[in-house]
Amino acid sequence: MVPQAMRAVTPDSSIHPDEAGRGRIVLHRVTKYFGDAKSEKAVVEDCSFTIEPGKLNVIIGPSGCGKSTLLNLIAGFDRVDAGTITCNGKEVSGPGADRLLVFQESALFDWMTTYDNIAFGPRARGDKPGPLKSKAQKVLERVGLGSFRDKYPPQLSGGMQRRIELARAIINDPAVMLLDEPFRGLDAMTKGLMQEYFLQLYAENPRTAVFVTTDIDEAILLADRLIILSNSPASLRRCIEVDIPKPRTASTLFELDVANDLKREALEILYQEALKSFRNHKKADSDFVQAYSRQTRDTNID
Ligand SMILES: Nc1ncnc2c1ncn2[C@@H]1O[C@H](COP(=O)(O)OP(=O)(O)OP(=O)(O)O)[C@@H](O)[C@H]1O
Ligand SMILES: [Mg+2]
Repeated sequence: MVPQAMRAVTPDSSIHPDEAGRGRIVLHRVTKYFGDAKSEKAVVEDCSFTIEPGKLNVIIGPSGCGKSTLLNLIAGFDRVDAGTITCNGKEVSGPGADRLLVFQESALFDWMTTYDNIAFGPRARGDKPGPLKSKAQKVLERVGLGSFRDKYPPQLSGGMQRRIELARAIINDPAVMLLDEPFRGLDAMTKGLMQEYFLQLYAENPRTAVFVTTDIDEAILLADRLIILSNSPASLRRCIEVDIPKPRTASTLFELDVANDLKREALEILYQEALKSFRNHKKADSDFVQAYSRQTRDTNID
């Protein structure tokens, strides 16, 4: 159950008054290898899909299938070995202010205060101190950390640190926000609160977002579009529009048949992927099959 205070938030549209946040990303036959010449293996192979502008695109795939690799390629931190990635028609050839990545592990600067962590990007961009101060304060208050501006990350809880990262992403106002399992490692209660909080923030500022997760419930709760990847090497298995009205809450979502049907459909695909790798007789993959078998049994997939 989510406290009422977390839900009753007045939208603050002044944070992003413009048309920012509508980047369209197209991946066309992307392949990425890792390793040296002898042990080179494809981590992403012939992978094509489109990240629709202004939507919350959720990528789900088995652990280790290549999701972070794909996000790093989109962010421009790494280069494709074949194929192309474009953002609003322009080929991605390196990092850019139009694409901002919230990392899987915390990437806050421990030696900077909450405020300085948030103001770092805009300052580097040359934003004027006066307007930046009031904008940063507004964003901090929006994520419930207005009175923590002078604290350092190690003085804050895991959930608070993740909120600073969200605030940092919001203030930079990128055309595309890339989030790599941002709530991984949080306890169940904090994770649930963060999901609802994220949905509220997103509702105020809909933008192109790519949210990576391995958690099917989280994926369906958040997604406008669900992009399901194959097991390693990563490629597109299915793209599904999630036509469940928002606002959604974790506590009521799976009372809806449509949410359960979608969960079953997605788990079925992930299960098929697991079976494929099981045929390769790899120990880790057989563990993975067992894990998904349990999940699919729980949701009555035969
Ligand atoms: N820099 C690298 N050099 C060599 N191999 C790498 C490198 N980065 C990732 N890999 C390998 O690529 C595969 C995919 O890794 P990646 O981190 O993209 O998976 P993931 O789907 O994000 O996993 P998780 O769900 O655990 O975060 C793994 O086998 C990993 O070991
Ligand atoms: Mg990852």
